[in-house]
Amino acid sequence: MISKVQELYTEVESFEIKDKETLETFRLNYFAKKGKVNDLFAEFRNVPAEEKKQFGVELNKLKTFVEEKFREGNALVENLEDATDDIGFDLTLPSIPEELGTRHPLSVVRERMVEIFNRIGFDLSEGPEIEDDFHNFTALNFPPDHPAREMQDTFFIEKDPDIALRTHTSSVQVRVMENQEPPIRTLSPGRVFRNEAISARAHCVFHQLEGLYIDKNVSFADLKDTLYYFVKEMFGEDIKLRFRPSYFPFTEPSAEIDITCLLCKGKGCNVCKGAGWVEIGGAGMVDPNVLKNAGIDPNVYSGFAFGMGLERITMLKYQIKDLRLFTENDVRFLRQFKTLG
Ligand code: PHE
Repeated sequence: MISKVQELYTEVESFEIKDKETLETFRLNYFAKKGKVNDLFAEFRNVPAEEKKQFGVELNKLKTFVEEKFREGNALVENLEDATDDIGFDLTLPSIPEELGTRHPLSVVRERMVEIFNRIGFDLSEGPEIEDDFHNFTALNFPPDHPAREMQDTFFIEKDPDIALRTHTSSVQVRVMENQEPPIRTLSPGRVFRNEAISARAHCVFHQLEGLYIDKNVSFADLKDTLYYFVKEMFGEDIKLRFRPSYFPFTEPSAEIDITCLLCKGKGCNVCKGAGWVEIGGAGMVDPNVLKNAGIDPNVYSGFAFGMGLERITMLKYQIKDLRLFTENDVRFLRQFKTLG
């Protein structure tokens, strides 16, 4: 008789409760009034007297075991139900990985440039993308009908008086000069628009980052020094810088800024068309007429301005060969950029 209790114990032990159904089977088989444990209790009276004590002990052990196992099974099933039924999905499933986005390479480079100029006292300024003729052209010393206006293929919104999408961020500098007394040291990054066919090297929407410094006794040497500092911080100590005489209506003298081609290290390649140099922007001493137009006395103050293409700098920094990649939103491209140290 005692071996019957032990057999049942082993049976109960190996029974696996894993869901609602197996729990119910377990209950019916072992725990219920008509289950196997109670059957054994009923047999108590047939047990020989000398075995009764041990039989009782074993049977009680079995009963406690069954009760315990049933309680545990119950808890397990409740947990499963919490995880599935109540909230409509299974919390025990592995999660769907959520990918973090990365910053756009143009933003990464812009922030880096802003930070570099910030260290030498340049603040930030911004202005409207839809500009009037005065701020985009006239105040910047573009005479009416001057061919320089043609150089920047403008998207006009209204004619007479002319309203257009700004063709450069120099318009922001006019606004700063109108509203602020020198000394002025400001950086104006922003979107600009020109009616150009989209290609690997040109786009009708792109970004510039311009700087303006106005104070007493500002010289061309200050301009060179500022740009040398920027280029070395941005591209490294080995980069060389050169100024080529150029023309802008709003600066005199004017220069175009070239740096060593980063792809061939100055040896000459496709990107620099064999020259070893690539252009990064324009610069010059602010024309006295521009200061006057913005209400600053050119006999007291002088200043320099420079403007760089953000796309160009980013392409050089990361060796990107096609400008169109910036606007295609291809995550395989965008994922490659994190932050610049
Ligand atoms: N605004 C000029 C351009 O768009 C760049 C520039 C800025 C040149 C400041 C000189 C000084 O090409």
